[in-house]
Amino acid sequence: MLSPVKVIVVGAGSRGETYSDFASIHPDRLQVVGIADPRLFARKKLQECHNVPEENVFDDWHCIAEREKFADAVFICTPDRLHKEPAVALARKGYHILLEKPMAVTLEDCTEIAETCIQTGVILAVCHVLQYDPFIRKIKVLIDSGAIGDVIHIQHFEPVGFYHFAHSFVRGNWRNEAESSFALLAKSCHDLDLINHWAGKRRCIKVSSFGSLNHFQKENKPPGAASRCLDCSVETDCAYSAKKIYLDRVKKGWVRWPVSVVCRNSIPDIESVTEALKTGPYGRCVYECDNDVCSNQVVNMEFEGGLTASFSMVAFTEEICLRKTSIQGSKGEVTYDGHEIKVFDFLTQISTKHTVDLSVPGSFSKGGHGIADYHLVDAFVSAVAVSYSEWKPTDDPVRSKGNPGESQAGV
Ligand SMILES: NC(=O)c1ccc[n+]([C@@H]2O[C@H](COP(=O)([O-])OP(=O)(O)OC[C@H]3O[C@@H](n4cnc5c(N)ncnc54)[C@H](O)[C@@H]3O)[C@@H](O)[C@H]2O)c1
Repeated sequence: MLSPVKVIVVGAGSRGETYSDFASIHPDRLQVVGIADPRLFARKKLQECHNVPEENVFDDWHCIAEREKFADAVFICTPDRLHKEPAVALARKGYHILLEKPMAVTLEDCTEIAETCIQTGVILAVCHVLQYDPFIRKIKVLIDSGAIGDVIHIQHFEPVGFYHFAHSFVRGNWRNEAESSFALLAKSCHDLDLINHWAGKRRCIKVSSFGSLNHFQKENKPPGAASRCLDCSVETDCAYSAKKIYLDRVKKGWVRWPVSVVCRNSIPDIESVTEALKTGPYGRCVYECDNDVCSNQVVNMEFEGGLTASFSMVAFTEEICLRKTSIQGSKGEVTYDGHEIKVFDFLTQISTKHTVDLSVPGSFSKGGHGIADYHLVDAFVSAVAVSYSEWKPTDDPVRSKGNPGESQAGV
């Protein structure tokens, strides 16, 4: 049996912690051997969870690039604008890379990452997790099997969710384009990736897009509202009140997302959440933030062969990220409502429902896109393990089975 793939987690925040859970479930396949994060709380939490030796725990990714290679792979889960530099530097060290989306925030940086990984021969996987969602995979299998004939049109909708948008894109990390990226890249790169995936080999040749920021602007601040929800006399009438989104949840014992994000350096409880809302970004009035990213956007695409696609993203929805898709083909139509897939056959006029296996182990089963996250890490760890099993032994200091930097094309 192969020894577990050794990974260093670069950015021990929400995503880094999630992917690392795979090592707790499958210690025979994945071992966390290093961590880099400037936040002591995040580092310590992951270090204790995975028994990482002190000498492999750092407060910045540069320390890993400066050291002799001591693992097989890295999970790069740093903020959006901090993907390119560690990806390029660590690919040059010969680490296989699981890189959070967006791959980078400029085309030039994406190209540099891809070229470096090809030159150094490391595996590069970008975390477009939805491609690993069992429903999404089933839709692709149905299309490829010819169930709806030639694909003619794809209609895809992303409901972001009213309080999710307020949390991430008005108060949170992705609110401001200069600090992270525009909403279509930060949020909907998953969806554009899916449309491209379903379009198969056909290239997109024309695109038009319009978007705007609505509602979360100073002129919509209700009369009498305060700058912070904890001081606000009209908070009870506000759907976006931080008290409702965070304090009410923690009072009911809910300490996971979005509450966990608010207390960056402590375990969330009523006291720590209250303090964070008094002083931190998540307690701000949604009408007084430095947000500038779009709350709604449409994209129209034309692909080779006349296939058209339309995509809409909107903040103001009840459902959170539960995408809806319908794909029209020459022989039938496939629809997906976030819960089940239905294929209508034009010839027989019969609808067939398709279910998928949604079971995944441990914390990955606890909602969000955990199921897709599990399959993504599973695929990456398998790819790294298989790549080693196929290489001939060399004097690689980490693996006796070879240094990927010299023999494998990036994927
Ligand atoms: N694939 C998905 O579906 C998905 C979902 C959410 C977020 N993301 C992406 O994942 C990335 C991380 O998001 P997150 O929600 O985990 O954010 P986060 O803020 O929880 O985690 C980022 C971590 O990077 C650390 N960091 C900052 N500078 C660093 C440095 N120099 N060296 C090492 N670590 C450093 C931060 O301290 C923080 O702990 C972002 O690019 C985000 O867009 C992807």
